[in-house]
Amino acid sequence: MIAKGLEGVTAAETGISHIDGAKGHLVYRGQWAKDLALHHTFEEAAYLLWHGTLPTPDQLAELHEDLVQQRRLTPELRRLLDALPRSTPLMSALQCAVSSLAGDESAWPPTRWQALQLTALLPVITAYRYHQLSGTPWDEENHGEMGHAAHYLFLLFGRPATPAQIRAMNAYMVLAMEHGLNASTFAARVVASTESDIYSAVGAAIGAMKGPLHGGAPTGVIRLLDAIGAPDQAEPVLRAMLERGERLMGFGHRVYKTRDPRAEALRDVCAGLAGGDPWLDLAVHTERTAIRLLAEYKPGRELYTNVEFYAAAVMRAAGMPASLFTPTFTAARIVGWTAHVLEQAAGNRIYRPQSLYTGVMPSAT
Ligand SMILES: CC(C)(COP(=O)(O)OP(=O)(O)OC[C@H]1O[C@@H](n2cnc3c(N)ncnc32)[C@H](O)[C@@H]1OP(=O)(O)O)[C@@H](O)C(=O)NCCC(=O)NCCS
Repeated sequence: MIAKGLEGVTAAETGISHIDGAKGHLVYRGQWAKDLALHHTFEEAAYLLWHGTLPTPDQLAELHEDLVQQRRLTPELRRLLDALPRSTPLMSALQCAVSSLAGDESAWPPTRWQALQLTALLPVITAYRYHQLSGTPWDEENHGEMGHAAHYLFLLFGRPATPAQIRAMNAYMVLAMEHGLNASTFAARVVASTESDIYSAVGAAIGAMKGPLHGGAPTGVIRLLDAIGAPDQAEPVLRAMLERGERLMGFGHRVYKTRDPRAEALRDVCAGLAGGDPWLDLAVHTERTAIRLLAEYKPGRELYTNVEFYAAAVMRAAGMPASLFTPTFTAARIVGWTAHVLEQAAGNRIYRPQSLYTGVMPSAT
């Protein structure tokens, strides 16, 4: 029996996260991901995934300090990124930069310090490449008082983001941090299982994330929100789409057959910021209308909002073009990848599944 795509196959034991699609559960190391997104920072959730417990105030202060120290583009990284052709996509540039960090002394086993270094650096590399490609000025001032999400937005836009944008981005990054044995996390664990270094494992994960079936930008949702434009247009636009038999982008999910806890949490954050940003307001109103109309047009199908819907709204509210969606997802998921690499190393066995030969055999002589 072949499990195509390894569907239904359990390939690792993990203490990092638990997903129950039927119940709409997402747990990070014994804590509801939703609660973490609503009440904790990116740094606290990252500490939890790497260490297994939430940090004490002293541990949190130390983590913040270490991230601030590491979030600098070294001259070597800058030269490397400058040398890449303009045609190199942002995700591929990230992959090159991450691979270049490997050194003889960094081979095996992977360390939490390396996890932290990669987490600090991905937003900086992304922002530098973004400015390089868009021809906008690069301001590398390191505002040590800014948290991880706020500093990422500052690097991208050269000015402090609003409190609403920071809060929404923080919640998104916590919820996008980890999601079990998805393709990119599995890729990272497979590479780590060969006792290769963490930079190679994360490079492989970035390659997997680049694929449209995994980290593809939720451009369909942006198109939907653009077509609606203002809250009072939600009902006529959505109704017309459903009348034409079209699917509403950002609704329905293959795994979650109830409300996606990540979408729920982001909705709560966005609704709590009502009036803070027109994009978040439009998203909250559109969701409410869409759920009502989906129940009317598709009764019994249990169609709810998926995480892509609010991910798109949060990134759009922060002013991000679509080209930054997948790199931003990556800047969040790096925490899950590195936690899995550390876990793989702690109880390693090289991955070696079987394949079934379907070719011809040599003719008998
Ligand atoms: C995500 C998705 C592929 C999951 O599909 P699925 O669980 O296999 O569900 P199905 O494709 O079998 O659809 C079941 C029914 O619900 C309807 N449906 C599912 N998602 C819908 C949506 N977003 N809008 C309108 N109708 C939808 C289907 O038309 C189908 O109706 P029918 O029974 O009358 O034929 C699907 O919900 C979808 O296409 N969503 C929109 C795209 C999207 O948001 N993608 C991002 C996902 S992370």
